[in-house]
Amino acid sequence: MLEMTPRAPRVRIDVLFAADDRRVALLDEVFWSLRETPKQIAPRWLYDERGSELFDEITRLPEYYPTRTEWMILEGCAAEVAELTGATTLVELGSGTSEKTTLLLDALHAVGTLAVFAPVDVSEEILSQSANAIAARYEGIGVEAVVGDFEKHLHSIPKGSPRLLAFLGSTIGNLGPEHRARFLRAVSETLAADDHFLLGIDLVKSPERLEAAYNDSAGITEAFVRNALTVLDRELGSRFDQEGFSFEARWDAENEWVELGLRSLRAQTVALPVLDTDVSFGDGELLRIEVSSKFRREGIEKELAAAGLTVERWWTDPDGDFGLLLATPAVSASETP
Ligand code: SAH
Ligand code: AVI
Repeated sequence: MLEMTPRAPRVRIDVLFAADDRRVALLDEVFWSLRETPKQIAPRWLYDERGSELFDEITRLPEYYPTRTEWMILEGCAAEVAELTGATTLVELGSGTSEKTTLLLDALHAVGTLAVFAPVDVSEEILSQSANAIAARYEGIGVEAVVGDFEKHLHSIPKGSPRLLAFLGSTIGNLGPEHRARFLRAVSETLAADDHFLLGIDLVKSPERLEAAYNDSAGITEAFVRNALTVLDRELGSRFDQEGFSFEARWDAENEWVELGLRSLRAQTVALPVLDTDVSFGDGELLRIEVSSKFRREGIEKELAAAGLTVERWWTDPDGDFGLLLATPAVSASETP
């Protein structure tokens, strides 16, 4: 976590997704998603204050290689990204603590183009802490933070030209294929011709390493997943019995994702008072909390192309564990001279 300052100037926080609206959206979504097969919860609801703290702990676990690998890749390529993009505005989607982003900010600062940093996150607590920390560290830039949902509010995030839209940490992998396609199309539509999209993706590797990354020996990932039940209890007035569910994180080779969830250890019905209903679990039924998709270069390039984005540069670590790519809006036939 970056150090926090009590009061940092030049920080604006736009709230596009206020607490009341978030609550209504959660109730509406969860009402339906607990009736789907499998029952599930969207990733945006996992990051309350506790969830964000637990994710921050996850990033430092010995088994969780993605954060430190992406950090290493960024150290090597941030200067090139800054040169290639010449960005005046850096927007970061799902910004969290923005720790790795300091590598990009340093590089953009060094080339002298950067005027605005705009972190976007659904979690207001983590966003205001990191926005203040960044403003204190980089005196010459404005920080225009947005409490928003990157699946809903892309059209309302700060513009500025040229703009670099960064989406790090392989957070895109927490979206299933359909949501990902819709999200990438929206990214493509929001980018101007001289803007860039910087995307971090975790790559397919051995099931043993993937499962180890989500079954850490300290049990922090399990606590992160179980926190979803705490969120539901708080918002729905339910009383999920944590002991009635076992934690599971398993590589699904067909879908190429790690599926994280809680498996009901018996048939049980949980009352959801705020929704005036209940939800029944069969013995052994899974409540899916998250999927973490893993990518191959050809696959993600195809997904980007289908959304109208062309990959301009690709970086990876020596072991090929993680990928970082820089994409631009594809030039359509009518635009070519
Ligand atoms: N980018 C950071 C944090 C990744 S954790 C990193 O690379 O380490 C995922 C972050 O995305 C969390 O901070 C979470 O609050 C945020 N998030 C999840 N779903 C979101 C959504 N739909 N809209 C905006 N932010 C979201
Ligand atoms: C934020 N996201 C990319 C993480 C991941 O690896 O899918 C979330 C996470 N869940 C458990 N561990 C980490």
